[in-house]
Amino acid sequence: MAATDGMLARLAAIVGDAHVVVEPADLAPYLVDWRGQWKGAAMAAVRPRTSAEVASVVRACREAGVAIVPQGGNTGLAAGGVPAVSGPAAERPCIVLSLSRMNAVRSVDPVGLTLEAEAGCVLKAAQDAAAAQGRLLPVSIAAEGSAQIGGIIAANAGGINVLRYGMTRNLVLGLEAVLADGTRLEGLRRLRKDNAGYDWKQLLIGSEGTLGIVTVAVLRLVPRPRETVTALLAVADPAAAMALLKRAQDGLGDTVSAFELISGFSLAIVERHFGLACPCPGGDWYVLLEAGSSLSGLREAAEEVLAGALDAGEALDGVVAESGAQAAQIWALREHITEAELKEGAGLKHDVSVPVSGIPDFLAEAAAMLEERFPGMRLNAFGHAGDGNIHFNVLLLPGQDRAAITRAVHDVVVAHGGSISAEHGVGQYRLAELARTKSPAELALMRRVKLALDPDGLLNPGKVVQ
Ligand code: MLT
Ligand code: ZN
Repeated sequence: MAATDGMLARLAAIVGDAHVVVEPADLAPYLVDWRGQWKGAAMAAVRPRTSAEVASVVRACREAGVAIVPQGGNTGLAAGGVPAVSGPAAERPCIVLSLSRMNAVRSVDPVGLTLEAEAGCVLKAAQDAAAAQGRLLPVSIAAEGSAQIGGIIAANAGGINVLRYGMTRNLVLGLEAVLADGTRLEGLRRLRKDNAGYDWKQLLIGSEGTLGIVTVAVLRLVPRPRETVTALLAVADPAAAMALLKRAQDGLGDTVSAFELISGFSLAIVERHFGLACPCPGGDWYVLLEAGSSLSGLREAAEEVLAGALDAGEALDGVVAESGAQAAQIWALREHITEAELKEGAGLKHDVSVPVSGIPDFLAEAAAMLEERFPGMRLNAFGHAGDGNIHFNVLLLPGQDRAAITRAVHDVVVAHGGSISAEHGVGQYRLAELARTKSPAELALMRRVKLALDPDGLLNPGKVVQ
């Protein structure tokens, strides 16, 4: 019997034959990222049902020297959830560890404002469970119908509500996780205050499965706003958008939950590929603003803010949704941008952030740099401007030097005090750029943490840190 067969038999003894996926056609979806651009190899996809099974799988892999690629809904945009495609990590035997069978929402506490769910629970199912109790799980991303709780924690997902509620790490109260040596860490606490020693869960959140495998989580909920105002506004340029952000925050305070900046190009490709038309067409830039409150008077306050913005020339035109259905139509324009970009052709994703008030200067400088150094390229710029995150995505012409374009964009980002990954993470996609742009001291610290928690490099090799 080959060593691989022995390993597969051992894994099957832990999770059951049916949950060790080896048939090439069945295995294929686990090996390729959502955009179809990163395709690795693995001996199997293994699908445990409990945390105890995850720990046993990790121990078996450790003894055999087989690497583990933890995978959630596989909706990531940095190729962090699929096996490494190049370098030493790609040579190493590995399994994909899919958490998708661990998909229960275990409990919702509408008074303590918590939700406990297993790692493979789809984000939308967790949101719905919170909504059924009049509560809101405020992580919202375009992929919420497939992304899983464990994956969004591993990636520290951002999305449209970060402005008001913070990144995923601000919403995790407790975690259960399995470390590289098979230790099961049980920290499913529901506490708002817990200063008893190092907050180890924060080390795992955003580590993209390189430091531990999240198996269960307790998430923080918030009261569900009873009234929501959603508006799409045409603005002259990003500077006008930022003036509008200030006006909205002055007039609506922290009820502003989303403030998205969208280029006219982004909406044009959504219309081209999905037939979804912008209700106020012809603009160069747009803002999608949403505010929510349980106190009355939000709509009147929002209308006053928007009238002021039109008077001041910060907004040129716009619509305010009259119903939930209209709000959904406005959001559909925003949520189809990524898929429209994929249909448009080969592109480069630059998921960058800069200080919020620096967005107009960053956009102007980065766009001018591209025009000068890489003429003819099309820019698909949009993002969560209220929190400083711009998706400065570039659609390529044939034969263009991808790495040179990315380096040039990231150099502008760094010059503006920004980050080369605001919310998508590093994965394999930004590995070289992280090594190029992060300080030596920070990289050395990351390596020391990795070595301390995973000395054999078993967990998600070839991702985040080399
Ligand atoms: C989004 O906000 O829609 C995605 O994070 C952006 C992207 O696809 O680049
Ligand atoms: Zn985004």
